[in-house]
Amino acid sequence: MNLKSDREKWDSRYTHQEEPFPAPDELLVHHVDLLTSGRALDFACGLGANALFLAELGYEIDAIDISFPVLLRLKTEAIRLSRSIFCVAADLDYYPLPQGIYDVVAVFYFFSPPLMRYIADSLKEGGLLFYATYNYRHQSVKPGFNESYLVPRHGLMPYFPLFDIMFSQEAAGESGNICCLVGRKTRN
Ligand SMILES: C[S@@+](CC[C@H](N)C(=O)[O-])C[C@H]1O[C@@H](n2cnc3c(N)ncnc32)[C@H](O)[C@@H]1O
Repeated sequence: MNLKSDREKWDSRYTHQEEPFPAPDELLVHHVDLLTSGRALDFACGLGANALFLAELGYEIDAIDISFPVLLRLKTEAIRLSRSIFCVAADLDYYPLPQGIYDVVAVFYFFSPPLMRYIADSLKEGGLLFYATYNYRHQSVKPGFNESYLVPRHGLMPYFPLFDIMFSQEAAGESGNICCLVGRKTRN
């Protein structure tokens, strides 16, 4: 990934469009019974709706994103809501993610195959992964969307061989263009 252009693209989007805070992803909301407490990571958090949701449940949150402007909005919202979120502005292509420390990792609408093993490694044994993002069908919804950001036909599961898959959908969403997974890490 080209660091400068990637950061510039997202900074520009977040600076020029005052998107409202979205609701937390339904994958998390539907599995709220699995969520207890501990340490959680919102990976490529954007506005951090999922980080805010997990913080409300009592998780100690790290929220990482490449875009400083979006983290500023998240931090401001977290303060307004009296929720504690530790925001990190970093390029996840190069960021040394800590290993084996998270009870929950949330990855929503971000896909980069070389980072999958670092995402898996960052979870504790027994930790939960919540992952939803666009699959290859998304190109029929958004022609021209960069194919390398889309999950191929084999889905997300092959990236997480050490996980007990608790829920998986390869063609979620109205257009079948979203795949999602909830898994528990069984071993390191
Ligand atoms: C489609 S948004 C998803 C945001 C959030 N996870 C959500 O579901 O609302 C993708 C996010 O990834 C971030 N991003 C893109 N490339 C990144 C990188 N190399 N390192 C860290 N964050 C990155 C962008 O700034 C953006 O906020």
